[in-house]
Amino acid sequence: MSTWTPDSWRNKPILQVPTYPSADALEAVEAKLASFPPLVFAGEARDLRAQLADVAAGKAFLLQGGDCAESFAEHHADHIRDFFRAFLQMAVVLTHGASKPVVKVGRIAGQFAKPRSADTEVIDGVELPSYRGDIINGIEFTPEARIPDPARQLEAYRQSAATLNLLRAFSSGGFANLARVHEWTMGFMKDSNWYPRYEEVARKIDDAIEFLGALGLNPENTPAMRETKFFTSHEALLLGYEQALTRRDSITNDWYATSGHMLWIGDRTRNPDHAHVEYFRGINNPIGVKCGPSMSSDDLKRLMETLNPKDEAGRLTLIARFGSDKVEEHLPRLIETVKAEGRTVVWCCDPMHGNVIKASSGFKTRPFDRILSEVKSFFEIHRQMGTIAGGVHVEMTGRDVTECTGGVSAVTEASLSDRYHTHCDPRLNASQALELAFLIAEEMHGARTNGAAKAVGY
Ligand code: PEP
Ligand code: CO
Repeated sequence: MSTWTPDSWRNKPILQVPTYPSADALEAVEAKLASFPPLVFAGEARDLRAQLADVAAGKAFLLQGGDCAESFAEHHADHIRDFFRAFLQMAVVLTHGASKPVVKVGRIAGQFAKPRSADTEVIDGVELPSYRGDIINGIEFTPEARIPDPARQLEAYRQSAATLNLLRAFSSGGFANLARVHEWTMGFMKDSNWYPRYEEVARKIDDAIEFLGALGLNPENTPAMRETKFFTSHEALLLGYEQALTRRDSITNDWYATSGHMLWIGDRTRNPDHAHVEYFRGINNPIGVKCGPSMSSDDLKRLMETLNPKDEAGRLTLIARFGSDKVEEHLPRLIETVKAEGRTVVWCCDPMHGNVIKASSGFKTRPFDRILSEVKSFFEIHRQMGTIAGGVHVEMTGRDVTECTGGVSAVTEASLSDRYHTHCDPRLNASQALELAFLIAEEMHGARTNGAAKAVGY
């Protein structure tokens, strides 16, 4: 295989690239980004890789989630806090239900670039370039907004840095303290049908904390009880931006993407001969590959060989996103391929991207029962094949949005317009996200058993 460099992807065919009006302006921005500090450190990426190796071995569970697309307009502390606590609630329910540590990876602090199914969008007979995410162009349907602007990459970097800074503070500064498990509930969640069940889990954690306290262990002297590790991830679609933030680790001399801890390749850009796979093969971060129905066994073999030639556990996560009606057809054949090749991967279920429908009102939505059904099939198939259902990947927000239909809070097609705020795909709201976490916890261990002490060390 030819020598890899951070820019060797530039010699390969590439899909989903914006056409910038000025190559000079783009180069100037990329040079500036290349001089900025890294957002994450190689040691953290290695730590996540080790945690994902535990997931591959069935000793931990991966929870990956966040916005479909972050936006500049929604960059508020409240939004980040609401997301983080909804995520922590899910994690605590999963930890309690599964009796396993939950590896926490947000789709956040860098999730700005979006692949599109068409280069242009037509509204009322007017055709304009598609919106490609705030790091590239604006969502407003005007010719000016849709022109790709390289300066947006600097704003995306700034927002990623500020978001990450707050997440680091939340993770280690007391917000994630298990003793505060009751406080993570948001106002509107108190009306949710899931609230009493969440409170029950929270009460068991209280009991466990009290018990451990009697043994002399408390959040003050036990870091695992007062802080958590939270990692960032995004689809590394805009390779010029990624290249500018690709750095050599001073300890190992290896190359790392420093725009986020884990990066993934989207379902539309995973051609083994193309630029995105070329870029990914040279970075040492843990990486993901989205696997949709068009993924052939041959492609998967080549991807595993190219992206993880030494078959290192924790390096490669396969994110299955087939759709509730196609998962039975495609997941088993890809699991067979991994088995036949004797490879180690993390299998993660994205029950969102294969389950988008258009409501009669015109809104893009995802019915909760299809999301649930894909998750259930994913677990069932792994059970039958003797492999490990390692994690889930969801689009969610801490807000009370109405974007996916269904769930016990019963968002209907008619109510989609009430609070439909997403910049891209429909997300689970905080109540639907928690409901999903309970259902996954049940999948993992049948009915939850008692035994509060297992909740500690989440
Ligand atoms: C996404 O995760 O937002 C996405 C576009 O996914 P996929 O590549 O699986 O379609
Ligand atoms: Co999406």
